[in-house]
Amino acid sequence: MTETPEIAQKSPYGVDVEVGKSYFWCACGRSKTQPFCDGSHKGTGLSPVKFTAEASKKVFFCGCKHSLKAPMCDGTHNRL
Ligand code: FES
Repeated sequence: MTETPEIAQKSPYGVDVEVGKSYFWCACGRSKTQPFCDGSHKGTGLSPVKFTAEASKKVFFCGCKHSLKAPMCDGTHNRL
């Protein structure tokens, strides 16, 4: 069974990513190292989403875990 993700925070996390580097976005909301996976999804049926940076820049990872464009924020947090 897949659980509903927890809302880690109702706003995105701005992160400076590095070109070519991969990041694992926490999809379950339970990670203690937001916005990234720390393995806490075990047993929830949810798994992290891999993001590979195409440029070195600041990106906004979804913190509410309800974005339809995960792992990026799409503004859904404003409607929760
Ligand atoms: S933080 Fe989730 S959509 Fe913005």
